[in-house]
Amino acid sequence: MKYFTLLSLALLASASALRTQATKKDPTQGRYLQEVCKVNHDVATSPSEVTVHVEQFPGENAHFNITLDDPRYGGKTIADGWCIDWDRLIGTKDWSVDIYSAYSDKIPDAAVDKNNMLPNLAWLINNIAVGDTVDEVVQGVDCKGKVTWVDLQGGIWGLVDDVNGTADSDYVKFRQECVAQWVRDQAIANGGDYKIDCKDPNEQIPLVMVIDAGIVITNQTIIAEMNVHLIPGLCECGTPTAAPSKAPTSEPPTSKPPTTMTPTTETPTTKSPTTKAPTTKKPTPEPRRS
Ligand SMILES: *[C@@H]1O[C@H](CO)[C@@H](O)[C@H](O)[C@H]1NC(C)=O
Ligand SMILES: *[C@@H]1O[C@H](CO)[C@@H](O)[C@H](O)[C@H]1NC(C)=O
Ligand SMILES: *[C@@H]1O[C@H](CO)[C@@H](O)[C@H](O)[C@H]1NC(C)=O
Repeated sequence: MKYFTLLSLALLASASALRTQATKKDPTQGRYLQEVCKVNHDVATSPSEVTVHVEQFPGENAHFNITLDDPRYGGKTIADGWCIDWDRLIGTKDWSVDIYSAYSDKIPDAAVDKNNMLPNLAWLINNIAVGDTVDEVVQGVDCKGKVTWVDLQGGIWGLVDDVNGTADSDYVKFRQECVAQWVRDQAIANGGDYKIDCKDPNEQIPLVMVIDAGIVITNQTIIAEMNVHLIPGLCECGTPTAAPSKAPTSEPPTSKPPTTMTPTTETPTTKSPTTKAPTTKKPTPEPRRS
């Protein structure tokens, strides 16, 4: 009895954990494609608007804390959030949003500049985390640094948005440009055709949140990093069939582990998450450009 209670608490804790240095995907482990899982992206798409609370600049881990309280998204959850839409504005408050799986074909075209990069964005949030170390030549420049949330945000804009900032903005002033480019370039090089990995207990899906009035998108499109196991029905995993002579049908068995990702010098799994800020400077970008 006690054992089960503890076990379920442990499972709950791991299911609700956000992806950090401690919970990031182990690049040596590869993906768990042996079992056949189907991902039902429709259940992650809300049939009507959902009220979420957006907190801008919550700290060193993300651009936003996004609080949801809806059984379709695991009850009360705080998710790390990112801007994917430089041109529109948002701020700290409750917002009524339409929620889509990043893989949904129902996302309004006008909401995201480079919709084709959304699978790469899913790769990015599962494989790159604040605190990662960069030490290599990026775009011809010798680049060394630790990824901060501002760098990660810059890489996300570089990946999915036509604009990644304006030179006079704090988002550009406070980021290490080559580190942001590294984030973007890794996602472009390794994240194409990325598929949600239901066998990873920490797997995150980008939930795209769109704020509109009728067909007009009024405020910034954002994403929340949501653990796939918190969304009931998203992962449908059957029992593995005994040695099928044919390859499983639902997922191509070709995906290789992201071997081209730069190995960090630290072991990703044993490190406990540091609460320390990666840099001493705390960017305070203008709220209007978020
Ligand atoms: C943001 O969310 C994290 C959990 O992911 C929490 O530790 C932190 O206190 C939150 N910060 C704010 C300002 O809401
Ligand atoms: C939301 O967008 C409107 C324009 O559509 C803008 O006037 C308003 O400032 C935005 N809200 C925030 C909090 O940025
Ligand atoms: C931002 O945009 C500039 C101009 O297009 C580009 O040179 C730079 O590499 C971009 N940075 C990122 C992080 O995408």
